[in-house]
Amino acid sequence: MATATTQTTRREAFGSRNVFILSAIGSAVGLGNIWRFPYVAYEGGGGAFLIPYLCALLTAGIPLLFFDYAIGHRFRGSAPLAFRRMHRAAEPLGWWQVLICVVIATYYAVIIAWAAMYTWFSAQITWGKGNEEAFFGEFLQVANVAETGVSTQFVPQVGIPLIAVWVIVIVIMGLGVKRGIGRANTVLMPLLTLMFAVLVVQALFLPGAAEGLNAFFTPNWEALADPGVWASAYGHIFFSLSVAFGIMVTYSSYLKRKTDLTGSGLVVAFANSGFEILAGIGVFAALGFMAQAQGVDVSGVAESGITLAFVAFPTIVSQATGGSIIGVLFFGALVFAGITSLISVLEVVVAALQDKLGWGRVRTTLTVSIPVALISIAMFSTTTALAVLDTTDAFVNAFGIMAVALVAVIVVAWILHKLPVLREHLNRRSSFRIGRFWMLLVGALAPVVLGYLFVSEIIAKTGEPYSGYPQWFLAIFGWGMVISLVVLAVLLSLLPWRRNSHAKEDPEYDAFLVEEDYEPDAETGAVRVASMSKGARS
Ligand code: ALA
Repeated sequence: MATATTQTTRREAFGSRNVFILSAIGSAVGLGNIWRFPYVAYEGGGGAFLIPYLCALLTAGIPLLFFDYAIGHRFRGSAPLAFRRMHRAAEPLGWWQVLICVVIATYYAVIIAWAAMYTWFSAQITWGKGNEEAFFGEFLQVANVAETGVSTQFVPQVGIPLIAVWVIVIVIMGLGVKRGIGRANTVLMPLLTLMFAVLVVQALFLPGAAEGLNAFFTPNWEALADPGVWASAYGHIFFSLSVAFGIMVTYSSYLKRKTDLTGSGLVVAFANSGFEILAGIGVFAALGFMAQAQGVDVSGVAESGITLAFVAFPTIVSQATGGSIIGVLFFGALVFAGITSLISVLEVVVAALQDKLGWGRVRTTLTVSIPVALISIAMFSTTTALAVLDTTDAFVNAFGIMAVALVAVIVVAWILHKLPVLREHLNRRSSFRIGRFWMLLVGALAPVVLGYLFVSEIIAKTGEPYSGYPQWFLAIFGWGMVISLVVLAVLLSLLPWRRNSHAKEDPEYDAFLVEEDYEPDAETGAVRVASMSKGARS
């Protein structure tokens, strides 16, 4: 076979299925679980939110997780390569996901940097005077973008840890899938679980914890009549499970051929939800304490996202007995959860370029990560970083992740008719067999739900200016950014694949097609070799 003559490097692989599962959980469990879910759930009806949440998980989250696994594992490539192998014209979908990951990586890293600094501050309980002022004023030095324009003023207490985050992440990425990503997750995930368990137990023993849990779990059934609550459950599950932006496609391409895909997917999905619910319990127990200490209702202290982590938590840390430990555990957990997710986001980009250019791991990692890190440092360590972060995050979620998910399910299900192929692939080796119902969920329900979410987001974001930011600002960091991702994705797909890239010559993929008795894929080198080998065998 062509093995002897080819110059392509072997596709990397996770050491074992367990390492893959840990890494996939590491990717899924991130900032979204710890600080986003508790508030989304509370806002969406508390205990009653579990209904839309479970519906979203079972009807969209898990089916799309299987969809991603099937694409990555069946077509054995990074997102652009996997989509290209499915159909040449589908390659831009993969690049779109890669570019979404570039944007997410740039701002995700800075939140990890803040959390790292706050771990340090917690150890000594030093956050200046008042907490709002301490975080937004003294720490971030937030300037009003409408008055100052986009600032270039460097904020060292953010910029320096941000540089450190990037150095750590680049080293992990440079070490490769097995020695870098696999090992980092094998160490960090058990540590994260332990820290989290201790944190939750400690929070449960704080005075007032029961009040917080009551507020969190008391169902507000009326919320279920609000379509917005259902939309937020579906919107949350994509980001939380890391589906639809190339991560699970890339990670599953590093799995051995004979792997139980659906069984692994179920473990990942339920572990992610377990973490999320545990985070809700821990965070609301702590908020209950804070409410009692201030003599107010829990609703008066339940803040969203950034404010919850960096304003409410420092208050709890300052007031609670053993607060320092709570702070170190909480912010430390954010750092670890963030790093294991960030490496998965960046891996989408590195793997794509590695496949397209046929370069080695270190060269590709440095070529990809250094520019992304520089953009991240330039954009997010200035006094207007918060406005840029808020805008890019909102727009890339709504018009990046959700949009690419919508287009991908339509293209794969309705245009390329590949769902039966993917289903068949999932069922070959998996313990949990999926029926036609899965195709219905992915091909029919998902497009309807995603379409609804997409249209409602367009209506929301074209109405009032998002968060009251100036129009010019939204035009650049909101609309301009999301539209340019699509244009760039198409352009990247037009660039030729290098001769020794995985698309052109991949004996492993060829052998896989032959062994699985699959039809060769159109228009890749695989056609030639696979059919040759097939012929040779018969
Ligand atoms: N799934 C990751 C998170 O929840 C990206 O933050």
